[in-house]
Amino acid sequence: MTPSIFEPVSTPAYAIRELAFFVLGLTGAVFVVVTALVVYTLVRFGRRRDDDGSEPPQVYGSARIELAWTVVPFLLVVILALVTTRYIYGIEGREQPPEALEVTVVGNQWWWEIRYPKLGIVTANEIHVPAGDATRPAPAFITLQSADVVHSFWIPQLAGKMDVIPNKTNRTWIDPRKPGVYVGQCAEYCGVQHAWMLLRVVVQPRDEFDRWVATQQAAAASDPATHAGARLFASLACINCHTVRGTPANGVFGPDLTHLMSRHTLGAGVARNTPEKLRAWVEDPEAMKPGALMPPMKLSGDELTQLTAYLLTLR
Ligand code: CUA
Repeated sequence: MTPSIFEPVSTPAYAIRELAFFVLGLTGAVFVVVTALVVYTLVRFGRRRDDDGSEPPQVYGSARIELAWTVVPFLLVVILALVTTRYIYGIEGREQPPEALEVTVVGNQWWWEIRYPKLGIVTANEIHVPAGDATRPAPAFITLQSADVVHSFWIPQLAGKMDVIPNKTNRTWIDPRKPGVYVGQCAEYCGVQHAWMLLRVVVQPRDEFDRWVATQQAAAASDPATHAGARLFASLACINCHTVRGTPANGVFGPDLTHLMSRHTLGAGVARNTPEKLRAWVEDPEAMKPGALMPPMKLSGDELTQLTAYLLTLR
């Protein structure tokens, strides 16, 4: 689905579309009036066949016209500013209701960490939230933080952009009304892989969302003691950056891999999460996403096969 601010499914996005139409209407009216005046002037006062070539009477200065073209645009700008401010405060002033889902999103070069502090879930690049409807809204309040540089959180169909700034906590909220997958992306240039810092919001019916929560809360599926790939994984530097809950892997620099295979994409959207792509990614992240901070582990073909087999168990 292409992200478009003209197909909103959440209250802040509806408000933004309303405002966009208002601004478009007002500026459109200005355009029509100015164009009409220009065309009228061209037709009415253009050079005629029977002109004798002499200049028309010249007029110098007109306080009335000067005043009109200063005051009218000024008033229009004031109207635009006031209406925009009202919408911004309307969206940002929304109190967090007690039943709201809390999500923390941490921008990293170049992926998003997604945490649900009250549910004990950590995942990456994919936010799951329940769908609400007009009678029973399902608001999710999102806390935004950055681990490195300035990023910007933007899912056009759900809410406006909100910058993600180091050492500062920003907030935004959504209340999606229709199940579906809504794509967004980092909207502030943050380095070479800024363009591959995508994220998706998966809006699910309540029972489906509850099942997702239960799956994510469970420990890693495969027993690290019995899986050869797991032993290999634990012996490599992988565990310094990645966490697989219930195993020695508890690094926090990279995405949590406990339920890696429940996610749709690899490398924040750079590829679909298939066994082939996963293997290629582990073999050489740089080839798929130049500049990615994950180094290649220089593994043999057999080791790659074992390691990929283990990662595939992380459902
Ligand atoms: Cu993160 Cu652009």
